[in-house]
Amino acid sequence: MSKEKYRPETLAAQGMGRIAQPYLEIAPAIHVSTTYERAADGTYPGKRIYSRADNPTYDAAEALVASLENAAGAMLFSSGQSAAAALFQSLAPGDGILAPRNMYWALRKWLLDFAVHWGLRVELYENASLDDLAAKAATHRPRVIWIETPANPTWEVTDIAAASAIARKHGAIVAVDSTSATPFLTRPIELGAAIVMHSATKYLNGHSDVIAGALATAADDALWQRIRYVRGSGGGVLGPFEAWLVLRGMRTLHLRVAACSSNALAIAERFHRHPKLPHVLYPGLPSHPQHDTARKQQRGPGAMLSFDLGSLEAARRFLNQVKICALAESLGGVESLISLPALMTHASMPKEVQERIGISDGLVRLSVGIEDLEDIIADLDQALLYV
Ligand SMILES: Cc1ncc(COP(=O)(O)O)c(C=O)c1O
Repeated sequence: MSKEKYRPETLAAQGMGRIAQPYLEIAPAIHVSTTYERAADGTYPGKRIYSRADNPTYDAAEALVASLENAAGAMLFSSGQSAAAALFQSLAPGDGILAPRNMYWALRKWLLDFAVHWGLRVELYENASLDDLAAKAATHRPRVIWIETPANPTWEVTDIAAASAIARKHGAIVAVDSTSATPFLTRPIELGAAIVMHSATKYLNGHSDVIAGALATAADDALWQRIRYVRGSGGGVLGPFEAWLVLRGMRTLHLRVAACSSNALAIAERFHRHPKLPHVLYPGLPSHPQHDTARKQQRGPGAMLSFDLGSLEAARRFLNQVKICALAESLGGVESLISLPALMTHASMPKEVQERIGISDGLVRLSVGIEDLEDIIADLDQALLYV
């Protein structure tokens, strides 16, 4: 199937088209072999060597990620964390990374702990502040400017095009954790980013049944080849069945993202004037500080939102009553999930750091699923009576 001719929705629905010869199967095959036969002259007629480097099951999934991101290539990894780590491990000791103060908590921890220990220089900038980004880029001279937008769990939106212009001025590249935006809302490479990262565990797969990651690249350059080497030699590869699940999930990505986002927008609009919810954080609301940037670089506001219930006690009473949304970490599945960052994902963070990045004790995060909208609203409504 010619990639240029079809829109992302068509490519996704067809999983990049029929790929499996000789039977022309509509669903792709899963290739489980770890190794491949050599010819007597030592060559590999099947053009594969060993499955730690790559696996034929990856082909359609990686081609689809690349196509959705309008990228020159894509690679699957064993998790979102290993995808991000592969990029940073491709750098040299002494290289600088400029990362947002608020970002996926475990990657923040990995950067400030592991990456620094390895000799990378890590500096933090204020999310969404281009002034701070420009000033720190000038003094810190980073090789990579990392952006997470919208940034979990307070959903600041960073202007990727403007950040990419700053990066170019200082000889850096921009890499974007686009997990919560998905390629259907934002295509960072078209805005100037060099690398896009996804926790494919989330929307790309969409069914909370696989841990996976992906990187996509603007250019098949030396950095990309280095990342490929890190994956193949470090061994952070995905199993073939998991790769197949990611491909299957992506076939409905556009439908799921549209349904979750429309539910989330309706919930945010309904609750942001609720007397018990003074702070609903959602890029789709005009009250969001970067609402205009979100409108500019996202095709829709997304399906993640957070709100502040004022205190830990109030949040606990609320969460005790919610029935539809399970209290659990993670996001991006067809089912709604709710979480309390201060006591769950961010519990290991010192209180002052939590406060600095806007995580109050009463902050509740909601990953909106595709359930019936009125059912979700009725459930949240009844739980709010207990706040
Ligand atoms: C925004 C974001 N980035 C990265 C990750 C890490 O992905 P994984 O859990 O697949 O390693 C997560 C996981 O929650 C995430 O939410």
